[in-house]
Amino acid sequence: MKQVLGFDVYGTLIDTHGVIDLLEAMIGHSATRFSIAWREKQLEYTFRRGLMGCYRDFSVCTRDALEHTAQSLGYSLTENQFQILINSYQNLPIFPDVVSGLEKLTKTNCEMYAFSNGQREAVDLVLENAGIRKFFGETVSVDDVKTFKPSPKTYRYFMEFTKSNPENAWLISSNGFDIIGAAAMNMNTLWVRRNKQVVLDTWEYEPTDVIDSLDHIVEYIGV
Ligand code: LAC
Repeated sequence: MKQVLGFDVYGTLIDTHGVIDLLEAMIGHSATRFSIAWREKQLEYTFRRGLMGCYRDFSVCTRDALEHTAQSLGYSLTENQFQILINSYQNLPIFPDVVSGLEKLTKTNCEMYAFSNGQREAVDLVLENAGIRKFFGETVSVDDVKTFKPSPKTYRYFMEFTKSNPENAWLISSNGFDIIGAAAMNMNTLWVRRNKQVVLDTWEYEPTDVIDSLDHIVEYIGV
């Protein structure tokens, strides 16, 4: 049976902390702390909006999270700096293991999709600018179902969209909440744990497998 792979984008293929260089030029040595706080607040907003049923797209969560992070850390960004940081989300770097892993997968008969909280156009653009859009079929965006990961609706939508099922559908993600959400929907899951300091929540859901680099992904998908 053809294996159907859904790749999480931000944090798995694309390094959201690629903004740190820009932040360093603006705010100096607190750039890393700022970037971590921004990403955490961005995801928190998706969780809250999903639970509240007051969906606004991922770009709104990203903008609002940037605003909150700047205020809470005491930085008054100029409108120009704010816009530069928001625009940088269209040009973020990939992790170093991404191309080699995807290239190996193209030699198999699996289907590959980008599967993200981001809107389809924004995801297509960031993947195109990073030179990896060519590896994927049509982007599966949670924007189509107006909620966010880890809502069951999003994983169900991925399987409907790709005409796959829990037997042959895979989620590949570095985000623990995403892995647990997909595992709860009985999808196969591959947790990309590049940083050994990151631990998975000790819930009742386990990933199918754990890898420390996408470079070895073919050995785990059984394609
Ligand atoms: C994504 C973020 C949540 O869905 O990682 O791409």
